[in-house]
Amino acid sequence: MGHDFGNYGNEIYLDGLRGVTPRFPMTAAEWAAKAQAALPPSVWSYVAGGAGDEHTQRTNVTAFSRWGLIPRMFVGAAQRDLTVDLFGMTLPSPLFMAPIGVLGICAQDGHGDLATARAAARTGVPMVASTLSADPMEDVAAQYGDTPGFFQLYTPTDRDLAESLVHRAERSGFKGIVVTLDTWLTGWRPRDLSTANFPQLRGHCLTNYTSDPVFRAALSRTPEEDLQAAVLRWAQLFGNPLTWDDLPWLRSLTSLPLIVKGLCHPEDVRRAKDGGVDGIYCSNHGGRQANGGLPALDALPGVVEAADGLPVLFDSGVRSGADIVKAIALGATAVGVGRPYAHGLAIGGTDGVEHVLRSLLAEADLTMAVDGYPTLADLTPSALRQVTGG
Ligand SMILES: Cc1cc2nc3c(=O)[nH]c(=O)nc-3n(C[C@H](O)[C@H](O)[C@H](O)COP(=O)(O)O)c2cc1C
Repeated sequence: MGHDFGNYGNEIYLDGLRGVTPRFPMTAAEWAAKAQAALPPSVWSYVAGGAGDEHTQRTNVTAFSRWGLIPRMFVGAAQRDLTVDLFGMTLPSPLFMAPIGVLGICAQDGHGDLATARAAARTGVPMVASTLSADPMEDVAAQYGDTPGFFQLYTPTDRDLAESLVHRAERSGFKGIVVTLDTWLTGWRPRDLSTANFPQLRGHCLTNYTSDPVFRAALSRTPEEDLQAAVLRWAQLFGNPLTWDDLPWLRSLTSLPLIVKGLCHPEDVRRAKDGGVDGIYCSNHGGRQANGGLPALDALPGVVEAADGLPVLFDSGVRSGADIVKAIALGATAVGVGRPYAHGLAIGGTDGVEHVLRSLLAEADLTMAVDGYPTLADLTPSALRQVTGG
């Protein structure tokens, strides 16, 4: 049986008897508002913003309200089991932290990747560590405790560097490689454009590159001597517009589970599966990359069908425990949350991330309890109904 995630509510009410109220707010909207107040404007804009007029970003969130969970009674769901098997590992819940490239500077001490990794250790919620981090992946992985972690690869144009990054991830103990396909260049982001703000070009969160022997070998002066030259080199090799012809090479890089992120079309899913990937990650990057208009949630059922038994990870727009439940019912194997945990990090470091994760899990668990779905297997598409006139 799983953990009693819902008990977080009782803990809070019992603290109240001692006159203690929660240190952090209880809803995603309040986490965002507090984070906005806590972060420098440029970092807030980078985290909060998306592509174009941010329609896709908003619709990612509102898509969840078009689905409703049908309550079932006399089930006696006194205990719930949220455990999930993923790539041979048993995880306490289907929730994971999506990769976020500026976590480092979301924390007040500039070490947000480490703080987030510690929250993963405390909660059992896996973190997918971004290539773009303020601390090297070896140091991030060292904070995971017993919680498995994944490394997200932005595939550079230099294949030797890609290989070096993946092999470092293997040696650091990461349990899978997530290759992001939708961000070989940066989308059109008016919020950041209006202040000419791109953190990486200012030298932020490039530590996985500047600590890499292959990256360093190509520089005539070390990054410590000449950061500007290192940033320029990074800008030249960051984005690789991969094609299907690159998939066999990607697959050959590692024997770890290989997961491809950004897939929304069933045909792409079938091809990736044929190419030997171990997991499909359905996402539109939280609406940050293209303002194409389709909420990621709408793509999920088709992706699940095409994946035909292969695990499907999902993110984009998850803001509550009820959202996690709905994504599972639509076929996701695991559900990622992005901005909300970055907000938790901004307002309270490791404690803030832990609070956000525990709140999401408690709400998911209590929703399953109240509505009579004791296990994830009970959450099928027939548990949902489309909301009419909503
Ligand atoms: C500030 C920020 C930075 C991100 N950096 C990365 C990244 O480095 N790699 C990646 O694959 N996805 C990145 N993403 C996308 C997330 O992994 C995820 O797809 C998205 O945040 C999910 O949507 P949500 O924020 O609505 O939950 C980033 C998202 C945000 C908000």
